[in-house]
Amino acid sequence: MRANLIAGLDIGTTHTCAVIGEILDDPRRPGLTVLGVGQAQTGGLRGDMVTNIDEMTESVRNAMNEAELMAGTTVDRVYAGIGGDHVRASSSMGVVAISEEEVTRDDVERVHIVARAVALPPDREMVHAIPQEYRVDHQRGIKDPLGMSGVRLESEVFLVTCQVTASTNITKAVNKAGYRVQELVLEPLAGARAVLTEDEREVGVAMVEIGAHTTNVAAFYEGKIQQVSILPFGGATLTADLVRGLAVPYKEAQIAKERHAHAFAQMVDPRETVDLPGPSPGQMRSVACELIAHIVEQRLDEMFGIVQSELQDQGVLDKLGAGIVLSGGSAAIPGVVELAQQIFASPVRLGVPSEGLGGLADRVRRPRFAVGAGLALWGADRFAETGRGASTKASGIVTKLGIWLKEFF
Ligand SMILES: Nc1ncnc2c1ncn2[C@@H]1O[C@H](COP(=O)(O)OP(=O)(O)OP(=O)(O)O)[C@@H](O)[C@H]1O
Ligand SMILES: [Mg+2]
Repeated sequence: MRANLIAGLDIGTTHTCAVIGEILDDPRRPGLTVLGVGQAQTGGLRGDMVTNIDEMTESVRNAMNEAELMAGTTVDRVYAGIGGDHVRASSSMGVVAISEEEVTRDDVERVHIVARAVALPPDREMVHAIPQEYRVDHQRGIKDPLGMSGVRLESEVFLVTCQVTASTNITKAVNKAGYRVQELVLEPLAGARAVLTEDEREVGVAMVEIGAHTTNVAAFYEGKIQQVSILPFGGATLTADLVRGLAVPYKEAQIAKERHAHAFAQMVDPRETVDLPGPSPGQMRSVACELIAHIVEQRLDEMFGIVQSELQDQGVLDKLGAGIVLSGGSAAIPGVVELAQQIFASPVRLGVPSEGLGGLADRVRRPRFAVGAGLALWGADRFAETGRGASTKASGIVTKLGIWLKEFF
């Protein structure tokens, strides 16, 4: 039996995650049966700068092999995430004359080509050109213009570009690990795919995915992408503050953050303490959990403030009827939802991948898997649209090379 497999690969700045799923055969319930999940520490990156491609390759290999082992099968291609502050997003309009009386598939293709035809410098490439809505004459907000009557067809397209070197590095690491990139997908859009509902996107929502070195923001309204930002801070920024504020080494600060941090200092018992190394080597001292919470709260407060001004600048802050959805590894800090509620003065919930996922879905039901699971779901959507982009379940002796060769001949 042929099974169509999709793999999502999120090479985060600290954490590489692979999710392999099988496409459900039920067209009424698009989604994935999760078969395998793999994780590895990311090597070869400093912040989001690649410093060693071989170490990055090793991380990809480790995460993919773990996912394949759990799934009991191999895959030959991945939907890989791309992020970093070199990414730029914008909206573009295309206009064409409708060739006959009604809009044909050819008109839609032409208007799409016109809308995405922007001049790019040689060091940048297009990652996405996503049709958002069409207009036929003066009628706006059309999702599918095929068959509509009119003389003028316009399309609004959401364009995402990135630095060529960034995409080349990802492709190189993936290829060296023995896979190929089926499609690069912008991390904030992949995360949003996994943790936001369609209703929220209609009413207005912003996903704030706080990773280690980056915070991904994706805002939607009336079903359209309104804004995407990749901001250069995250959980590592909190750790660096704890290093300074508590005078402890980075590793200890990271452990203290992951085990004892709270984002809302007033919710912490002032008598609670934790033992940390210092002040001299080999010594231990007792530190108030309230102090750790104060340091974390202050920085998170500033980070949410920046997110809020970004949303305000783009004019989407007052359109977020469904509020804010927090995700990413750093959204696991207790009290983060309460703090965000206070700052944004709107509904806030924690976003974990769940909708559209079956099988071992509980393995990815954590905020740090938002992008990995979202990439796999993105691939499943692509397959539903085009019937392409999946790996076929390999039985024993069928190797990845075999599958590639079959495609070539
Ligand atoms: N329980 C926890 N409490 C606090 N922080 C946590 C917890 N678990 C993970 N983190 C933090 O989450 C961050 C990692 O999150 P994630 O895996 O989403 O990042 P990444 O994808 O590697 O990075 P980026 O998205 O910035 O490229 C780290 O800073 C880590 O310390
Ligand atoms: Mg990430």
